[in-house]
Amino acid sequence: MDLQGLLSCTKCDLSKGRQRVVVGSGPSRPTLLVVGEAPGKTEDEGGEPFIGRSGQLLFKLLEEETGITRQDCFVTNIAKCRPPNNRPPTPKECAACRPWLLEQLDSLHPRAVLSVGNTATKQLFGVTEGISEIHGRMFELDGVCAMATYHPAAGLRSPNIVIPMIRADLRTLKTQLATA
Ligand code: URA
Repeated sequence: MDLQGLLSCTKCDLSKGRQRVVVGSGPSRPTLLVVGEAPGKTEDEGGEPFIGRSGQLLFKLLEEETGITRQDCFVTNIAKCRPPNNRPPTPKECAACRPWLLEQLDSLHPRAVLSVGNTATKQLFGVTEGISEIHGRMFELDGVCAMATYHPAAGLRSPNIVIPMIRADLRTLKTQLATA
């Protein structure tokens, strides 16, 4: 992929406020491509996606339910730059950034894609339904099986309700991977 192009991207105004372009990290042939919303403060400073509390929860649940570790995943976001005040990226910003994600999907050949949260899922799958309606359902993205689950930040806010649903979704994904 055109890494230099991504690192110097100015396709949307998020480029003006960022410290770093958070490209993503992981192996070149990952089991899963994990797609979140956008970098937060920690990620904008650290240069890696999901290195804060949300990420810790997500990868703990993933490993417990599927045996897949963060090291098996390429982790990225639908928007590669931090939106001001941690607002969600707008549909226009996501659309501007989408070609970078499609390049990643094309070059990484993951076995599956896991989209986390409403913003990434709506943009990635082109759906209008919210995450509460479509979590756990299988999709196809450029020939790769894909599933959406709740954002781990929602799991941190409402652990008793959301974490069991994330766990159930991840078990579905595990079954799908075993039969694919
Ligand atoms: N939330 C996200 O969606 N992505 C990150 O990288 C960090 C927090």
